[in-house]
Amino acid sequence: MAGKKKTEAQEPQSLEENFSAVEELIGQLEAEDISLEEAFTAYSKGMKLRNRWIPSKHTSIPAGRGRLASDMEETLFRQELQKRTAAIEELLKEYLPAEEGYQKTVIEAMNYSLMAGGKRLRPMLMQETYKMFGGDGDIIEPFMVAIEMIHTYSLVHDDLPAMDNDEYRRGRKTTWSVYGDGMGVLAGDGLLNYAFETAFRAFPACTSGEPVDPNYPRVAAALNILARKAGIYGMIGGQNADIEAEKQAEPLTTEQILFIHANKTAALIQSAMTIGATLAGATDEEIAALELCAYNVGIAFQIQDDILDVIGDSKELGKATGSDAQNHKQTYVTLHGLEESVREGEAVAILDSFSGEHEFLKELLLHLVHRTK
Ligand code: IPE
Ligand code: IPE
Ligand code: MG
Ligand code: MG
Ligand code: MG
Repeated sequence: MAGKKKTEAQEPQSLEENFSAVEELIGQLEAEDISLEEAFTAYSKGMKLRNRWIPSKHTSIPAGRGRLASDMEETLFRQELQKRTAAIEELLKEYLPAEEGYQKTVIEAMNYSLMAGGKRLRPMLMQETYKMFGGDGDIIEPFMVAIEMIHTYSLVHDDLPAMDNDEYRRGRKTTWSVYGDGMGVLAGDGLLNYAFETAFRAFPACTSGEPVDPNYPRVAAALNILARKAGIYGMIGGQNADIEAEKQAEPLTTEQILFIHANKTAALIQSAMTIGATLAGATDEEIAALELCAYNVGIAFQIQDDILDVIGDSKELGKATGSDAQNHKQTYVTLHGLEESVREGEAVAILDSFSGEHEFLKELLLHLVHRTK
């Protein structure tokens, strides 16, 4: 703690000091005997300095407006983020199954996992994409809840002793470590199934003889995305390759690691964004462009997750660090270093090609790629 304060106190105060601090970090990174952990630390310090003094060309802050303006934008963004997160928490509460009957325990375990906190990024991305394409109805709501249930189920199972064997998640004990392995499995299953029970509620009432509501085919198409991206051609496919890779002695190929990230992580982000667009009536071309945008975000998101597993603060993260090393996991970072920021540029360029309002969405994408939790 004392060490941390000291570093903050020594932060460069001028542009010149900043440059020499960055040069020193580059020198450290170029040294041959640097350990992986030291490299991560040097890199993240360097990125902090860069972001502090040189606003990214992809952010909405025009260069030259200076640090004060950028701090203000950051504060406003964080306030907005908090508001939206709180609104999603309220929405989730409305859809929780009642904890009663002989199935009470599994429902308690499901609700425990879902309401443990979490950044709620996927429902937020879905809602923002829906709005960007002009959506303003409430059919999006059951889908926002459903994607968070599916994401939560993926975490509940990911933490099981038979998978990553983790005891902390979202700042509390993992589901299996509170309710036992069996209930951990069932709570995950329950969340996955209940996600679909919830999403089906988006169908508009349909009376025979009446013209079909235009939302009807959109909801059907969105359900198709929800199912596919969570399954063997999406998240489960990625988790499959991920746990198999732990046993692989030789280095993973780039193709393998991109497959893992694209599926275990990017697939649900693609699901969120393309469902939002589909429900708002976006065209096939627009949806295809969003797939690519979300792919880039997903890869960058998982790279950051892997970085945080090494250098993150477990209190802030709400989960233990060092899990990947313990599971002998080779990550993109261990194979390729940390120079992947090109992905965020591509994602933002795609978003900027849409005319709909997407300022918050753009900031959100950048925020989650550079998050610290
Ligand atoms: C964690 O996802 C699992 C990954 C795909 C890296 P999040 O970092 O979005 O987890 P929560 O929802 O905020 O807990
Ligand atoms: C898991 O990736 C992605 C999922 C599909 C759950 P990780 O195993 O790296 O996620 P964390 O670090 O446990 O959140
Ligand atoms: Mg895992
Ligand atoms: Mg894990
Ligand atoms: Mg991880």
